[in-house]
Amino acid sequence: MSVNHLEKKIIVAGIGPGNKTYTTPAALEKIQAAKFLLGGKRALSDFASENQETFSITSDLESALNFIREKILIDNVVVMVSGDPGYFSMLDLIRKNFSPSKIEVIPSISAMQLAFAKLSLSWSFAKLLSFHGRKPADEDLKFEKGKILGLLTDAEFNSKTISKILLEFGWEKNSDIAICSRLSYPDEKIILTTLEKAADSEPIKHCILIVGKNLTEIHQN
Ligand SMILES: C[S@@+](CC[C@H](N)C(=O)[O-])C[C@H]1O[C@@H](n2cnc3c(N)ncnc32)[C@H](O)[C@@H]1O
Repeated sequence: MSVNHLEKKIIVAGIGPGNKTYTTPAALEKIQAAKFLLGGKRALSDFASENQETFSITSDLESALNFIREKILIDNVVVMVSGDPGYFSMLDLIRKNFSPSKIEVIPSISAMQLAFAKLSLSWSFAKLLSFHGRKPADEDLKFEKGKILGLLTDAEFNSKTISKILLEFGWEKNSDIAICSRLSYPDEKIILTTLEKAADSEPIKHCILIVGKNLTEIHQN
């Protein structure tokens, strides 16, 4: 069923960190109803159906934007992003290229939320920073008593390189670090160790790092 052209929307739907149980029903509803569906390879293989016209998002983001520009003239377009759209996703790029009035955002669970949940730890007062394709400001990385960091990573800025950086910013060698990888997948792994040991171990890429004092005790309580 097509919609009035004034009501046509680019629906940016979060799919959660991996396992479908963390995709909100609201996002699932929009994804299933989509005529035009964009997403990464994994998202498309998990969610796309045969009657949908799909576009696989790669590093060539301009092509993805062109697909949206073309299809939005016909019907709603649904863009699937990992985790929650409001947290370091393609939403920023879409907002730069289309009017906010054309965009609808459907939240899901962020990998960051799930990492804190796995440690039974509140993220209310945590400093959340991204090392995913960027480096946070020096000021934000500095050690402060009671500070808890929640960090997105990538291949270059991984559990090893980030631990070294934090040691340079005054964090103590025995500060706790939780290395949370493949969250929600069957091979999910959470390693609780110290910054000193993580800086001296094999790097773990694309994970969430939670850094602070006494995380281990908090986790075990
Ligand atoms: C571009 S960010 C996307 C964040 C996403 N919008 C969210 O809310 O979770 C990608 C980074 O998120 C983290 N990430 C995403 N899914 C993850 C998972 N299942 N387990 C651990 N970390 C994950 C990794 O740090 C990865 O490099």
